[in-house]
Amino acid sequence: MTRWLVTGAGGMLGTDLVAALAARGEPVTGLDRADLDVTDAAAVIHAITRARPDVVVNCAAWTAVDDAEASEERALAVNGGGAANLAVACAALGARLVQVSTDYVFAGDAARPYAEDEGPAPCTAYGRTKLAGERAVLGRLPGSAYVVRTAWLYGAHGPNFVRTMIKLEAQRPTLDVVDDQHGQPTWTVDVAQQIIALAHSTAAPGIYHATSSGQTTWFALAREIFGLVGADPSRIRPIPSSALSRPAPRPAYSVLGHDAWTGPGIAPIGEWRASLHRAFPALLAACQAAAAG
Ligand SMILES: NC(=O)c1ccc[n+]([C@@H]2O[C@H](COP(=O)([O-])OP(=O)(O)OC[C@H]3O[C@@H](n4cnc5c(N)ncnc54)[C@H](OP(=O)(O)O)[C@@H]3O)[C@@H](O)[C@H]2O)c1
Repeated sequence: MTRWLVTGAGGMLGTDLVAALAARGEPVTGLDRADLDVTDAAAVIHAITRARPDVVVNCAAWTAVDDAEASEERALAVNGGGAANLAVACAALGARLVQVSTDYVFAGDAARPYAEDEGPAPCTAYGRTKLAGERAVLGRLPGSAYVVRTAWLYGAHGPNFVRTMIKLEAQRPTLDVVDDQHGQPTWTVDVAQQIIALAHSTAAPGIYHATSSGQTTWFALAREIFGLVGADPSRIRPIPSSALSRPAPRPAYSVLGHDAWTGPGIAPIGEWRASLHRAFPALLAACQAAAAG
């Protein structure tokens, strides 16, 4: 039986990962930020010593992409320093470590999917701090760490684009959404299943991309969501990214390749639209619960 410890367990991915493990009957310790601040090295050692996990999954992160531009040191303390603390503790106590990372480690200007071994070139403070986390983990645990990069995440337990569209559909007659950024909308439940499959496999340590297959734009995704709500998709209007001014530039192309999964014989996550349709009832229910009170 594999014993798990999940950090950032109160976040969007962490919540669904702990639930997926519990549903399988796997012993899991989920620690949210109040339980364990990953920037506290002594607390990290203490928590891992106490839980004696076989696998630690680091879902804790500074995820405020725009705020990181003005607070890179603080974001680095969590995304780089926190990952390093976990890697040191896992090395000392013999646990494997799964570090969740992001498409933002790439420049986002490619024309074909980014391979797992392609050179990173982050263009944002958030991306730089997440890359520091990847390097901290792979450098300290070369034989027993996985970096699982994901992107365009949505789930029932956190703010995200899908939930925002469901909410705004009820509030606004039309919505302007960018149509020049390409990516793979990815359900947290799918990422959780990939992480579980990875840890249970004989997969080589290293980098894996846990994003949906296929690709789309935020504009086309918004239209799909309106269709699912039963609203007229033509209420979504396309705009260029240049119409929005944000502190952190958004990647134009965030499509990740999935070749590494063939090594352990694990199927990559399926097509983004099929996952969105499966996820939708839970997301709608979460939005309705939030609106009710
Ligand atoms: N969301 C996306 O679209 C996306 C895309 C690509 C990759 N990712 C990656 O996926 C992972 C999970 O992201 P998510 O969407 O689930 O983010 P999230 O909902 O923001 O969850 C992150 C959690 O980490 C916690 N946290 C922050 N600082 C911490 C610290 N010092 N110690 C312990 N916990 C801390 C946060 O707590 P508070 O809420 O109290 O701050 C939050 O509960 C992250 O590694 C992220 O970089 C996300």
